[in-house]
Amino acid sequence: MIRARVVSGLVLVFGFFSVLQSASAADPAAGQAAYAVCAACHGQQGEGNMAMNAPKLAGQEGWYIKRQLESYRNGRRGTAGGDGYGAQMRPMAMAVSDPVAVDNLTAYIDTLPIADSPPTVTGDIAAGKNAYMVCAACHGQKAEGNESLAGPRLAGQNDWYLVRQIHNYRKGLRGYDPRDIYGNQMKPMATMLSSDQGINDVVAYINTLQ
Ligand code: HEC
Ligand code: HEC
Repeated sequence: MIRARVVSGLVLVFGFFSVLQSASAADPAAGQAAYAVCAACHGQQGEGNMAMNAPKLAGQEGWYIKRQLESYRNGRRGTAGGDGYGAQMRPMAMAVSDPVAVDNLTAYIDTLPIADSPPTVTGDIAAGKNAYMVCAACHGQKAEGNESLAGPRLAGQNDWYLVRQIHNYRKGLRGYDPRDIYGNQMKPMATMLSSDQGINDVVAYINTLQ
């Protein structure tokens, strides 16, 4: 009787440890080794590199990075004619298809320090703040991102990248694939912004949130 209790107690304890282990399976050290390839374009600290057209990854949520890698891999992003930058990124995503490798990579990116991005876009911040009210519903009041509505973090992202992505949605270079349900949600929002100036205004406001 007592023996049976001890045994079932031990089974419980071991069960608990194996749950803990599987929850923390991602290995940032393995991710760091894999990140060496990414660093060439995205920067050693994932800070982004305008000369390479590659955005900041530090500070971005792991769920969003994973989804983008998946979208590039399965052709929901980076396959539109005229999207030269997406076409550069797509083979990189195809090279990391193993889900464990992707988990390790995002676990490593999560350890990178978050530095402010130098502003390169100017606009009317007050007008941009006004326009941003719509965006806040999915991207958060402080542009911190909202996983339950699938909206990524925008605060702290390189402003030139934000501008380019909004243009890409408008031109059909992103959110063009019917399987890309999240991109399809974003596309009409980008189309709502009235002009190039309107885009710069909202991005200039997002710059103030980092
Ligand atoms: C040859 C240069 C290059 C390399 C190497 C590279 N990338 Fe990229 N990556 C880009 C470019 C350029 C873009 C932007 C594409 C666009 O403008 O739509 C990008 C975009 C991304 C995005 C989308 C970010 C967002 O907010 O939309 C993610 C995530 C990403 N890269 C992750 C990685 C990871 C992880 C690696 C390493 C496995 C990597 N990249 C290697 C050039 C590169
Ligand atoms: C209905 C919800 C919704 C609203 C409102 C919305 N977005 Fe988005 N946005 C999304 C989703 C979802 C994505 C991610 C799409 C994907 O996963 O590829 C996104 C992606 C983006 C991206 C690409 C970021 C990156 O790192 O790749 C930018 C830039 C952006 N949104 C800006 C805006 C701006 C500016 C507004 C307001 C004018 C806005 N969004 C309003 C849902 C929304």
